[in-house]
Amino acid sequence: MTYQHTRHWVVDKSVGNLEASPQIQEAAGFIKQNKVVAFPTETVYGLGGNAESDEAIDLIFQAKGRPSDNPLIVHIAEKEQLCRYVRSVSSQADKLIEAFWPGPLTIVLEHNGELSEKVTAGLPTVAVRMPDHPVASAIIKASGLPVAAPSANRSGRPSPTTAAHVTDDLHGLIAGVVDGGPTGVGVESTVVDCTNDEIVILRPGGITKEDLEKVAGPVTTDPALVEEDQAPVSPGMKYTHYAPHAPLILVDGDRRFFAEKAEEARREGKKVGVLITDEYEGVPADKEIRLGPAGDLPAVARRLYDSLRAFNQNEVDVIFAQVFPETELGGAIMNRLRKAAGGKIISQKE
Ligand code: TXA
Ligand code: MG
Repeated sequence: MTYQHTRHWVVDKSVGNLEASPQIQEAAGFIKQNKVVAFPTETVYGLGGNAESDEAIDLIFQAKGRPSDNPLIVHIAEKEQLCRYVRSVSSQADKLIEAFWPGPLTIVLEHNGELSEKVTAGLPTVAVRMPDHPVASAIIKASGLPVAAPSANRSGRPSPTTAAHVTDDLHGLIAGVVDGGPTGVGVESTVVDCTNDEIVILRPGGITKEDLEKVAGPVTTDPALVEEDQAPVSPGMKYTHYAPHAPLILVDGDRRFFAEKAEEARREGKKVGVLITDEYEGVPADKEIRLGPAGDLPAVARRLYDSLRAFNQNEVDVIFAQVFPETELGGAIMNRLRKAAGGKIISQKE
C-alpha cells in the first residue's frame, strides 16, 4: 500500500495525560483500524501495528521491505499484559521483568497462539517488551492492543532515532509518524531468550550483559553473535543491517594506524569518510563525523545511527570507523558496527 501523504503528528512527551491528546488518539485509532504508524520508544522509533491482525503485520513487512521469516517484537504497556500471550513466565524471566521493565529489554518466551502467526514468523516463541517512553506507552494504552513494532527503517538501513529518519525511509509507505523528538538510548533493546533456565542474549542492546548478571546470575551470549558460520537463534541477526550509503570498514588500531589507512585510501583517489571519537580528531578525511569522547559509551550509542545516516549518497567512497571495547554498552555498539561493516575489519595487530 502507498499513501499520498504520511500523517505527521508532533507531540510533547513531557505533558501529562498524553493518552487523551488528539494526536495520540488519532494515531492509536489508526492502529485500531489495522494501519501502521511509527512512534518513538526510548531506544529507536518503532513501526507499530496491531499484533493480533495479519493485515497490519503484512503492512509492516511490506513498508520495511523486511523478510517475512524475521519475527517482530510485541510491545505492551502493562506487565500484566504479558501473560495473555505466553504459555508461562519462568522465575528468571520474572526477575528480569521486575528489574528492567519498563525499559530496553525484550524477553523471548513460548507463545500461546493468541497473536498473529505473522508476528512470530511461525516460531513457537514470541519476543515481548514494555517500552519506557511516554509516547509509546500512551499509544499502546490508547489502542488497547498488543503492538508489534520493528524499528521504523527500511530493512538494512540504520534504525531511526528521529522522526526525520523515519520520514526519509518510509514517507508514503506508512499511515503516519508520531514525532516525539529524538530517542534516548539510541540502540535497540537487548533480546534475551528466557525459554530455558539459562538466559541467553540473542541481541546485545540497551541493557548490558553486566546489568543482566547483577540480577539473574551468569548469562550466556548466542554464539552466532561471535561466530559467523553459525545460524543465529534471533533470525534478524543474519541479515546485513545498519548499512550507510558507502561501504564501511572497521579499523582496529591506534590513531596513527587509523590515519595511515585513511591516507592510503585517499592516495588511491577515494573520497574517505571517518566515523571517530574526539580522540581521533583530525585524521585525514573528506568527511569527518564525530561520536564524542571514547569514554562516554551512552553518548556514542545515542549518536551512532544518526552518524551512520549522515554520510549522504555519493558523498564518500568508503567509511573508516573506529572500534570500541566490548564491555557495557560497547557490546551493542560493536555488534551494530560489525553488521554495518558486513564483517570487514582491518587490524593493526595482524
Ligand atoms: O528497541 C527495540 O527493540 C526496537 C523498538 C522499536 O522497540 N525494536 C526492534 O525491533 O529493534 P526489530 O524488529 O527491528 O528487531 C527485533 C529483533 C530481531 O533481531 C528479531 O529477529 C528478534 O528481535 N526476534 C523477534 N522475535 C523473536 C523470537 N521469537 N525469537 C528470537 N528472536 C526474535
Ligand atoms: Mg531493526
